[in-house]
Amino acid sequence: MQKNNFLKQVIIFGATGDLASLMLFPAIYELFVQDQLPENVQIIGYGRSVLSQEEFAQKFTESVSKKTNHKLDKLPGLIKKISYFAGQYGDVADFEKLDKYLVDLAAGAEREVVAYFSVPPVVFGDIVKNIALTAKKTATSVKLVLEKPFGVDEKSAEKLLAEIGQYYDQREVFLLDHYLGKRPIQSILKLRMENNVINLMIKPEEISKITIIAAEQNDVGQRIGYYDQVGCMKDMVQSHLLQVLALITMNIPVKSDTESLHREKNNILSAVRFSGQIEDIVFGQYESYKTLEGISENSKVDTYCELKLQIDRREWFNVPVYIRSGKKLDQISTQAIIEFKKMPIQGEKAISNKLVFEIKPLEMLKLKLIQRRTDFRDSENEEFEVIELEQGLMCRSDLCLGAYASLINDVILGERKFFLSFPEIISAWKVIDSVEKIRSKTKLNYYPDETGGPTKLS
Ligand SMILES: NC(=O)c1ccc[n+]([C@@H]2O[C@H](COP(=O)([O-])OP(=O)(O)OC[C@H]3O[C@@H](n4cnc5c(N)ncnc54)[C@H](OP(=O)(O)O)[C@@H]3O)[C@@H](O)[C@H]2O)c1
Repeated sequence: MQKNNFLKQVIIFGATGDLASLMLFPAIYELFVQDQLPENVQIIGYGRSVLSQEEFAQKFTESVSKKTNHKLDKLPGLIKKISYFAGQYGDVADFEKLDKYLVDLAAGAEREVVAYFSVPPVVFGDIVKNIALTAKKTATSVKLVLEKPFGVDEKSAEKLLAEIGQYYDQREVFLLDHYLGKRPIQSILKLRMENNVINLMIKPEEISKITIIAAEQNDVGQRIGYYDQVGCMKDMVQSHLLQVLALITMNIPVKSDTESLHREKNNILSAVRFSGQIEDIVFGQYESYKTLEGISENSKVDTYCELKLQIDRREWFNVPVYIRSGKKLDQISTQAIIEFKKMPIQGEKAISNKLVFEIKPLEMLKLKLIQRRTDFRDSENEEFEVIELEQGLMCRSDLCLGAYASLINDVILGERKFFLSFPEIISAWKVIDSVEKIRSKTKLNYYPDETGGPTKLS
């Protein structure tokens, strides 16, 4: 059990919504079951919907019961720590009432307020301001947790970050991309920081290309309204997959503090460049997409996207990067593949060696080494085989947290390593904006459901 000086008051704004039910409540229970929630924590749901305490407790219980893999015997203990407060997001008077409620609930204890924004981005600005005018003045400390998407382009992201920056220090703000809470993604950084052997392999001059893939068999699922507004490029590439690229290609800093890590990631992200050529991009849509309820028959949203990028840094300049993602494909596969250059002695038939960080379907580190199967004397009939050295990256300790539980735990502990910095968000949007600029000149490739998707760039 963690030692905490302050009472932690975690307010979930939008507690009546999907993210709260599907992810946050189960994650909070996961932390509670694994003894990772501070004893002196209070969880407060906030929303415009008028709910009684019993109704909210019922909602919380149902959400946890549906999603958790843990036994439910500890749930009554957690329910004692939760409550609900109804109010508008744009009304400062409601936030004053909320603050009074929080002060009373604390009964004189020093307190830290964690405000989790589980609401649509349209109300982010209101909450940012109203917390600053109320709880920020009465609590010992305040932390904000906002989840991607941060804006819809560079300009809107800048506006949002400026609004936040007007009231809060960046260290008070936890900008969440749940991909960074996934254990195998965190392993990329952890392995690189502890094993120079891996860094010696990730030498740009020895690498022929990097490919990052996130292929899903699922369709767009429950978030269809959201997805139809954004599509693959903004949903998957803008943050998740560019972050994977940054973790793989960044320099390992001298210090392991958060600012150094964020700086090194941004050194890469700010140098990532899209050529602006339509040959370097593919957009696709699976054939049955438009038959989904609520989707217009004219929808041009991309359920598949692929692009070729370059990193404008001296060492990475000649290494092409391919990023590819899609839904309703024939396989589940999320991986980052580092492909090594062949040596002059290797003939055309020889296959390249590869280092693979596999995130799905299995969590693994793989080294694919090529061995010649045939004799050197028989140069006519060369044959090769792949030797795979692999190690699972699955959690083996007593404490195995899912992505949301891990990140909520980090927020409570004040650990920002696996959250995004303001500059990283802006750099990533610059890349996507340069892609969006030429979207209208590209064609949308329709692909049959459960196939490999449109023709690949590489
Ligand atoms: N759902 C997911 O799996 C998921 C995944 C990744 C990121 N996110 C992000 O997490 C945030 C919340 O997502 P969500 O899916 O939970 O959203 P949601 O269900 O649409 O909304 C959450 C709550 O916000 C309030 N709300 C909805 N629309 C509103 C509006 N126009 N103005 C003011 N309040 C409104 C509603 O509560 P009241 O009416 O009771 O106030 C609603 O229950 C979003 O920023 C989303 O992009 C969601």
